Amino acid sequence: MGALSIRQVRKAYHSIEILKGIDLEVEAGEFLILVGPSGCGKSTLLAMIAGLDHPTSGSIHIGDRDVTHALPKDRDIAMVFQSYALYPNMTVADNIGFALEMRKVPKAERQAAIARVAKMLQIEHLLDRRPAQLSGGQRQRVAMGRALARNPKLFLFDEPLSNLDAKLRVEMRAEIKLLHQRTRTTTVYVTHDQVEAMTLGDRIAVMRDGQVQQFGTPEDIYSRPANRFVAEFIGSPAMNFIEASRTGSEELQAHGWSLALTPGQQQALQAHAGQAISYGLRPEALQFSDHGLPGELGMVEPTGPETYALVDTPLGRLTVRVPGKVTQRVGERVHLTWSAEHSHLFDGQTELRIA
Ligand SMILES: Nc1ncnc2c1ncn2[C@@H]1O[C@H](COP(=O)(O)OP(=O)(O)OP(=O)(O)O)[C@@H](O)[C@H]1O
Ligand SMILES: [Mg+2]
Repeated sequence: MGALSIRQVRKAYHSIEILKGIDLEVEAGEFLILVGPSGCGKSTLLAMIAGLDHPTSGSIHIGDRDVTHALPKDRDIAMVFQSYALYPNMTVADNIGFALEMRKVPKAERQAAIARVAKMLQIEHLLDRRPAQLSGGQRQRVAMGRALARNPKLFLFDEPLSNLDAKLRVEMRAEIKLLHQRTRTTTVYVTHDQVEAMTLGDRIAVMRDGQVQQFGTPEDIYSRPANRFVAEFIGSPAMNFIEASRTGSEELQAHGWSLALTPGQQQALQAHAGQAISYGLRPEALQFSDHGLPGELGMVEPTGPETYALVDTPLGRLTVRVPGKVTQRVGERVHLTWSAEHSHLFDGQTELRIA
């Protein structure tokens, strides 16, 4: 029995189905990420786990208890929402300690917990203020503190870092990871930031349009995306796709160019003669070379430690990720090479992974 089981959960508002049969088994101590584009149903699913709303059908178990229809207060969860609300008349310290007070935790213990989370969230100097006297990012950290002060069965987070500036976001991400490593509290964390998803998640559920597209470790999701949507959604800059077709022979061709395949891929393609295939290459799989696919350097985007180069080739515009700087100039003729092992094949019709 896992720590959290979501079985065939469906949710319809009026006659519109928002969640279309979600199945997820989360192990005790696991950090689960729900990631997907805006409107795919992440917050709706989290609200069902929290008990703020109820599924139209299906069930939710926390541990061995069926909580599908249980009240939020009977689920032993702590949560931080996308739209968090603090108690306006209470100080920051009282906001953080409120849930502990409700649970009749002794005062000294409560104060210790408040001090601990305030330090971690860098809001020690704000403990006597009221929410109206805080910035958006500070309020978000208080909302986070309120959840972290407790020691629940399950943490639920809905984009808890979205209002923070870039630097604080990275620091808080590391703090959340450390906290989880220490406490091993089962966590469900919603984000559409794929760096957060990859760095925090033990496993990631990639959602689209009310359905789970793939459920696996960050490594699985990145190196073996189950379909073209997952391949495109996870990874930044996004994977390049070359639209190809399999000619009669062992070859995969696009605009008269033959694309490198591994023996395994050649075998997997046996069943796809003449069909459209998407050939995917991550930007880091491509290298500049003095031979290979010709192209013209169209644009250069330096980020500091690495550079993204956009190259116009006969197979379309391809993004190349280069460590450090690009020495070639825009407009210059370049060549690209890659190894077949780094390519991903998807069926052109079903968009499912072939190899
Ligand atoms: N109470 C409601 N009544 C009707 N439709 C709703 C309700 N709540 C959510 N929806 C719809 O359900 C879909 C999923 O919403 P949800 O908030 O779960 O998305 P999300 O994945 O969290 O998106 P975001 O990343 O933007 O927060 C949306 O199309 C939304 O408009
Ligand atoms: Mg949401």
